Amino acid sequence: MGSGKRICITGTGSYLPERIMTNQDLEKLVDTTDEWIETRTGIKERHIAAADEPTSAMAAEAGKRALVDAGVAVEDVDVIICATITPDRILPSTACYTQHRIGAKNAFCFDVAAACSGFLYALKTAEGLLVANGYKTALVIGAEKMSAFIDWEDRGTCVLFGDGAGAVVLTVGDDSDAGSRGLLSSVIKSDGEYTDLLTYPAGGSETPASEETLKDKLHFLKMGGNTVFKHAVRCMGAAAEEAVSKAGLTKDDIDCVIPHQANLRIIQAISDRIDIPLGRFYNNLERVGNTTAASVPLALDEALKNGRVKKGDKVLFVVFGGGFTWGATVVEI
Ligand code: ACO
Repeated sequence: MGSGKRICITGTGSYLPERIMTNQDLEKLVDTTDEWIETRTGIKERHIAAADEPTSAMAAEAGKRALVDAGVAVEDVDVIICATITPDRILPSTACYTQHRIGAKNAFCFDVAAACSGFLYALKTAEGLLVANGYKTALVIGAEKMSAFIDWEDRGTCVLFGDGAGAVVLTVGDDSDAGSRGLLSSVIKSDGEYTDLLTYPAGGSETPASEETLKDKLHFLKMGGNTVFKHAVRCMGAAAEEAVSKAGLTKDDIDCVIPHQANLRIIQAISDRIDIPLGRFYNNLERVGNTTAASVPLALDEALKNGRVKKGDKVLFVVFGGGFTWGATVVEI
């Protein structure tokens, strides 16, 4: 990194709502089958938040768990960044709601909207604040209530997504400290040419909410799944390779890959492309579906808690989402 500072993940936490919706449950809602969903995506079930459980409630729970895991007092949090495309409200930020829920009085708070790539964008932003701006502790959260933005009559999207949250505590170490080497490299990219392929068409300043937009269901997520699929494989593969080489490593040094959990076929294609066997990937999409910005931190927390990822491991995160946005980060845990 060159600054002498190392930015380390010192705690993780996650939260999944209690209610589970299986593929069989979806068979009763739309014209689909368990077999189609599982073979096309790898997903078997997902968690769905309660009606009175907004995104910030899940973000706060994951955040609190990460702070306990890190042994950091809530007053010591300097910044909360929440990656989400399903905010409690457009105004104010979900990070501010989360701050209030956890009582992090001394933090400044803002959201990052980069769809399924949001967590890596937030991580990169937090790293910059800690390296260059003198802050010491960041709480970086990915949290989504996708179920509130899904058209439950659209079988092309409603079978894919789930709700949940994941969080990490980032703190500053320096080169004299023992322990983790922290964030080693990241590659963050966007291409605004494809904004229409993953979008909520209405409800913003371009097409404000109206009776007509409600009738036409333009507030729900629309996705050109097939084109997204092809771009995801190409972009994630290239970003993963670039991040590994930027970290001065080779693919053989990577102990675990935690990819965005959108589709097992995408993950298989990335594994083939970057030549790291699927066995070295950590996947939980079978149980949680695509939780958008929560996907990577949720999987990371699980992998640490169940021993799949251990202290000292080098982990590669790789993501792709609406925008288009994509990226990869290598971290030594
Ligand atoms: N059940 C049964 N049939 C279905 C369903 C369903 N749930 N959904 C679609 N089909 C049908 C289609 O209508 C189509 O039928 P047709 O051939 O008669 O027209 C057929 O299945 C094939 O549809 P495709 O869209 O071509 O299916 P595909 O194999 O591409 O899988 C999927 C669709 C799962 C959405 C895939 O394209 C995908 O995973 N895309 C990428 C998603 C992603 O990575 N998103 C990025 C992150 S999301 C974010 O940023 C918020």
